[in-house]
Amino acid sequence: MRTVSVPTARPYDVHIGEGLLARAGELCSAVLRPCKAAIITDDTVAGLYLQAIEDSLRRGGYTPVAFQFAHGERSKNIGTLEAILEFLAGQQLTRSDVVVALGGGVVGDAAGFAAAVYLRGIKLIQIPTTLLAQVDSSVGGKTAVDLRAGKNLAGAFCQPDLVLCDIAALRTLEPAQFSAGMAEVIKDAAIFDRALFDSVSGGRHDLISTVERCVQLKRDVVARDEFDRGERQLLNFGHTAGHGIERLSGYTMLHGEAVGVGMVICARASYRLGLSKEDCAPPILAALRRYGLPTGCGYTAAEIAGACLTDKKRRGGTITLVIPERLGHCVLRDFPVADLENFIAEGMRE
Ligand SMILES: NC(=O)c1ccc[n+]([C@@H]2O[C@H](COP(=O)([O-])OP(=O)(O)OC[C@H]3O[C@@H](n4cnc5c(N)ncnc54)[C@H](O)[C@@H]3O)[C@@H](O)[C@H]2O)c1
Ligand SMILES: [Zn+2]
Repeated sequence: MRTVSVPTARPYDVHIGEGLLARAGELCSAVLRPCKAAIITDDTVAGLYLQAIEDSLRRGGYTPVAFQFAHGERSKNIGTLEAILEFLAGQQLTRSDVVVALGGGVVGDAAGFAAAVYLRGIKLIQIPTTLLAQVDSSVGGKTAVDLRAGKNLAGAFCQPDLVLCDIAALRTLEPAQFSAGMAEVIKDAAIFDRALFDSVSGGRHDLISTVERCVQLKRDVVARDEFDRGERQLLNFGHTAGHGIERLSGYTMLHGEAVGVGMVICARASYRLGLSKEDCAPPILAALRRYGLPTGCGYTAAEIAGACLTDKKRRGGTITLVIPERLGHCVLRDFPVADLENFIAEGMRE
């Protein structure tokens, strides 16, 4: 088992390894006294792993209770948040008890938000079961639900007390979900780590080391910017156009798939406009292809720019874009909002 310690105001450990679900009770007992553990999960993950987690928590001295909701982004809403909060209250959880988020980013975000606001905050353990959740959403303390007006519009910062990434759980993922997680891995590598990029795009990587490296990279940026006021925005490489494309597809395209296309557009435009020292688009395209990810979309630059601009990351008359200066090193640059469509058009020109 590998461990990455995250030095936020309240520090916590992320354990990464094979078979950690079965050891959840033992690993939790190192940071938490026996208490009631409210496992929040979705119906798919419940069918696969709920029993194993309940058994393991019981062996560790905890009293598990479980709540599940329908899988998918559509459940990440205020109604589900309310149902989770009512469940916690109905089970009479106190501030000495714990919420255990078992599932992908949807479960982690909704259960994490519930843990942040129930009794003004109770303990939280994240057990991410998708690759995306292991390398991205379970670490860093951002939680949220979607509003009708857009994704992640209501949320809170809530650092977990412990994160358990069981690599074995990834074997049951749908291949497209696994690939979408790889898009975020490719993104982390393109922003911060050329060596990781080369090993992932060459297919010469083992998953435990790759997840560990991504968690370390996220740990480093979160430690420097816990509340997302500056540098943490680097993690949004490919996400401006990506969010626009995701929205235009009516969310039929997976987030990671759209982010992959967003990275290609941004890398190409950055090189053509003289903002990059090297052309990062060809290696990013090759890495996406290796994992069966799309590299283009059927929308126009005007459509994508329009869909991006309803995004909450826009501030006033400028928009901050993440520019790959070279592979493994990105920088933040502010652009007038009026230039965004041209930038995207440049990145879409073959
Ligand atoms: N908080 C953050 O910092 C942050 C960062 C990135 C993304 N997110 C959020 O994460 C969400 C996306 O997360 P996701 O991609 O994990 O989606 P998800 O939670 O919807 O999971 C994808 C699908 O995989 C299923 N699943 C989960 N684990 C499985 C397993 N081990 N085996 C088989 N099936 C499994 C789920 O039931 C679901 O149908 C979005 O809502 C996004 O906004 C949050
Ligand atoms: Zn993302």
